[in-house]
Amino acid sequence: MSRSALGELLPEVVAPLPGARGTVLLDQLADAECPALTVRRARRSERSGAAQDPIVWCEARGSNVVDADGNRFVDLSAGFGAAAVGHGHPRVVAAVQAQAEKLLHALGDLHPSDVKVQLLTRLAKLAPFPEARVMLGLSGGDAVEAALKTAALYTGKPGVIAFEGGYHGLAHGPLAICGYQSAFRAPFAAQLNPHVAFAKYPGADTPLSAALARVDEAFARVPAGVGAVIVEPLLGRGGVLVPPAGFLMALGELCRARGVLLIADEVMTGLYRTGALFRSVASGADADLICLGKALGGGMPVSACLGRAEIMRAWGDPDHEALHTGTFFGHPLASAAALATLEVLEREQLGARATETGNYLHAQLDTLRARHACIRELRGVGLLLGIALDHTRPAFGLAVMRGLLERGYIVVPAGADASVVSLTPPLTITKAQLDGFVAALDATLGELA
Ligand SMILES: Cc1ncc(COP(=O)(O)O)c(C=O)c1O
Repeated sequence: MSRSALGELLPEVVAPLPGARGTVLLDQLADAECPALTVRRARRSERSGAAQDPIVWCEARGSNVVDADGNRFVDLSAGFGAAAVGHGHPRVVAAVQAQAEKLLHALGDLHPSDVKVQLLTRLAKLAPFPEARVMLGLSGGDAVEAALKTAALYTGKPGVIAFEGGYHGLAHGPLAICGYQSAFRAPFAAQLNPHVAFAKYPGADTPLSAALARVDEAFARVPAGVGAVIVEPLLGRGGVLVPPAGFLMALGELCRARGVLLIADEVMTGLYRTGALFRSVASGADADLICLGKALGGGMPVSACLGRAEIMRAWGDPDHEALHTGTFFGHPLASAAALATLEVLEREQLGARATETGNYLHAQLDTLRARHACIRELRGVGLLLGIALDHTRPAFGLAVMRGLLERGYIVVPAGADASVVSLTPPLTITKAQLDGFVAALDATLGELA
């Protein structure tokens, strides 16, 4: 396989999934990994009646992934949306390599690195507020945690309104507001913020007044007082739901009227995945805090919470210990990768490309939908799309995803019942690769009909 061509190639499945080498690695994994993860895969196999063994990734470039057995795939997940500029973008890799030669690690907030300062400056300029202030983290959950703490400090209120189906990460702070599945919260309920109420996330057809009434009603369930409403501008992991037009703008107005902060969790939607730099801004929502992650590092772990200056001042002026920090926050390698990624996003005009390619894919899938009754709905914007499948057939979504994997296409499920095929490919994916995916989906649905 020619290394230079990897990235824009179609799949080539030459060995079983997994093959001999992958199987050895998976056996080792099962012996070493916390059962929370390995056992889940076994359960999925049982439920879907098909092997759900994973492949083991060894190499990735652009939209291609190569597994331990030499199979080549097209990745329509972009590694959970992180590889928006494509896996291993040469500019990102070069920036990380150059940084690694110079400075691998610095002293966090005590003695910062030059590259961290550059990233903070760049992000503050990118933010849709004047004189924005930025807090860095490693994961999307870190950015959400920073936003939640900021809102609590600024408002003095502990309560949060979140949405059913919403996903914000699984550390204790974000977990308390995770509406994705109550089962995620249940075992840890006693350790979580109790001042949280959930409103139903509105689908595109929900009347605006009903959508807002649900949020209003949730306030009444937090007697301790609400400091923030947190929303995904487009519900991602929860099933790729687009809210009704005007909802986000009205939500911002509702928050202002009630004196609470609006946190836009743009970890999935931000940085051009839906065509716009910030989906909340494009939807008219005037958020006070914006969380970024995933795509920001081009594959390296880095996240950011952007906030209005006057709100960020709520952190006060600590003269001794920083109230919120982490050894690796603003890590030099991740900062260098983020700076390179932001440059690539602009230079390659990936926002415009996400819109154009997303419209193309949407149209192709629409054609397919006319022929397969098991496709209930197509949802999403730009290159954040969801194919809602027949949810009455147990584990049908998982079976479809397995069929796609066997044809060389990597997708991940969305929705608590895994009945939505979520598509978040690299924004650089080619039309030929998307055509191949649509043909593979056609064949898979035909086979499973
Ligand atoms: C909207 C949203 N917020 C936060 C997170 C959490 O990000 P991480 O897994 O990097 O902590 C995710 C992850 O999927 C997400 O989709």
